[in-house]
Amino acid sequence: MTQKTLSLKDAEQQVQALRKQINDHNYRYFVLDNPIITDASYDRLMQQLKSVETDFPELITPESPSQRVGAEPLTAFGQIRHELPMLSLDNAFNEDDLNDFDRRVRERLDTDSAVEYACEPKLDGIAVSLLYEKGLLVRGATRGDGTTGEDITLNVRTIASIPLQLLGEGWPDRLEVRGEIFMPRDGFEQLNKRAKARDEKVFVNPRNAAAGSLRQLDPKVTAKRPLDMYCYGAGIVAGGELPDRHADILERFKTWGLRVNPELRVVKGAAACGEYFARMSEKRETLPYEIDGIVYKVNRLVQQQQLGFVARAPRWAIAHKFPAQEEMTLLKDVEFQVGRTGAITPVARLEPVFVGGVTVSNATLHNMDEVARLDLKIGDTVVIHRAGDVIPKVVRAIPERRPEDARAIELPERCPVCDSDVERDEDEAAARCTGGLYCSAQRKQAIKHFASRKAMDIDGLGDKLVDQFVEKGLVETVADLYKLEVDSVASLERMGKKSATNLVNALKVSQKTTLARFIYGLGIREVGEATAQSLVAHYRELEAIRSATVDQLQEVDDVGPVVAAHIETFFRQEHNREVIDELLKVGLHWEAEAEPEADAAQPLADEVWVLTGTLHNMTRDEGKAILQKLGAKVTGSVSAKTTALLAGEKAGSKLTKAQNLGVRVVTEDEFVDLMQEWGVS
Ligand code: IVH
Repeated sequence: MTQKTLSLKDAEQQVQALRKQINDHNYRYFVLDNPIITDASYDRLMQQLKSVETDFPELITPESPSQRVGAEPLTAFGQIRHELPMLSLDNAFNEDDLNDFDRRVRERLDTDSAVEYACEPKLDGIAVSLLYEKGLLVRGATRGDGTTGEDITLNVRTIASIPLQLLGEGWPDRLEVRGEIFMPRDGFEQLNKRAKARDEKVFVNPRNAAAGSLRQLDPKVTAKRPLDMYCYGAGIVAGGELPDRHADILERFKTWGLRVNPELRVVKGAAACGEYFARMSEKRETLPYEIDGIVYKVNRLVQQQQLGFVARAPRWAIAHKFPAQEEMTLLKDVEFQVGRTGAITPVARLEPVFVGGVTVSNATLHNMDEVARLDLKIGDTVVIHRAGDVIPKVVRAIPERRPEDARAIELPERCPVCDSDVERDEDEAAARCTGGLYCSAQRKQAIKHFASRKAMDIDGLGDKLVDQFVEKGLVETVADLYKLEVDSVASLERMGKKSATNLVNALKVSQKTTLARFIYGLGIREVGEATAQSLVAHYRELEAIRSATVDQLQEVDDVGPVVAAHIETFFRQEHNREVIDELLKVGLHWEAEAEPEADAAQPLADEVWVLTGTLHNMTRDEGKAILQKLGAKVTGSVSAKTTALLAGEKAGSKLTKAQNLGVRVVTEDEFVDLMQEWGVS
């Protein structure tokens, strides 16, 4: 839209109207948290303003909402001497400290009645001072050492929620507003995500990110950072007055467009302060910004004046700190734990340290990629983070503190529990023990899988029972299952003689199985039912499978280099071989696999089928068995290689995928017809 046709007078009116609208919307958005227009409409107003200002540059003023960005970079920050020093706060670390503070306040005020306190979160950001003259923002400064700070005017002007011109009326001619500039958590996460994507340095926490963003000589950089501010007090006040209570001053600030923390509450007495602290401790993790404690301030200014200051802190306020969420300690050692599934996890053994309210002496390091990312060595000084109820984490090491004799952390070559080989895929961070059948760390998991329906299908052997067998030492490996006797089973919790007899019988029944079920039941990584069947179709005998090389295994349908390596490694483990031999010794057997039937009987040879949805004339497993008998391979997911999808009722994503890929879809009715054609009843 071009404004060239406007007269200067009309342009001035338009500019003023637009600025007022934009400032009002800013106020609703930032101070009241209650916007009444969309971001897009807001952007359009701003565009209009900029467009008129481009045509009439003489109308541009520094406090126009369009002038937040664009200043030239500085070569250095100027120094600013604070007319009134910016003080710090004394700390309280527990309720006793809080009660002592309250007692001192009441003694000095010579009162027995409960004192009125304003309670507010202690933000973890950067303390700043904003100077407004006649309502215009003329200067922004950091706290610095409290006496002298840095001139960051150009940078604070880029922060959208800081008014360049105060709204409303009644502000003192000179007003210094003090508060904390911070970076909200989500903005911090996004900033770091972008930095990571560009391989740039990430910030360790929102506070550092806020400080780094504010100390940019180029305000254009600051302008792109998600900074925000809450105001918590006044410094210089001249040519006007403020209310006589702290909380009322902040309320007044709000009417001028300054943001104030919405959690502010006024309470009476120390006990109520303690309750506020407890409430905020609960709420802390859900707040959109980080806080590190609560500040209590005597609310009435006359009382503040009576109390005065000591050295660098007021007597009328105190910061009640939350237990620190980050502490440094020594990484004494790294041990490796083996999980239920065989995953091997490095665990940091730490010099015990009190952090986030608990003593921490161990922390998981997840995997070797994490160890590499953190560049850890044993002997390092590390930073431990624990927030809320989350598990403690090693967040970084301090390289400057690394001793000369620091030791590298190495993944063991053998399982620390059972001494089997450890394998680590190139594309996977996790390392694993390969002694799945034998390793005591994986015992319960291995037995449950072995007993499951699609493996040995041992009726009545549920998870709870497996837990008991292992915990009581009755079963160490799957082979021991077949040595169980009725009496020992009957001695377990909730097990009578009858159910014990049933279980022992079920075990006997399960001894007669198929080779494919048996292979599947071994729990070799990435060997599901389909792969087990392919292996059996190809080799037909256990001995052939277990002595096949990685190269030979890849000749099997569906077996790639990764799966082949898993299979070969599994059978190479002495302990696994022993358990298999033992299973055969205790009576496991299967019928020799017949030669593949002639093609005539296998109309679906070379076809790949997938089943999905609910079938009514048969179960999915029955459908699958029919297809396999006809020579088809049945897999779990639809791909370009799929010949057909048998789609029952309520078929979902697999159906959509098949349709997208143009894979033939067969309904259950059609399938039943086809069965007749194929001569299957
Ligand atoms: S009042 C004279 N209120 O904590 C009192 N300070 O150690 C001045 N801070 O550097 C501070 N949130 O930046 C006050 N709600 C709050 C605060 C707060 C954070 C910071 C402040 C100061 C430090 C005091």
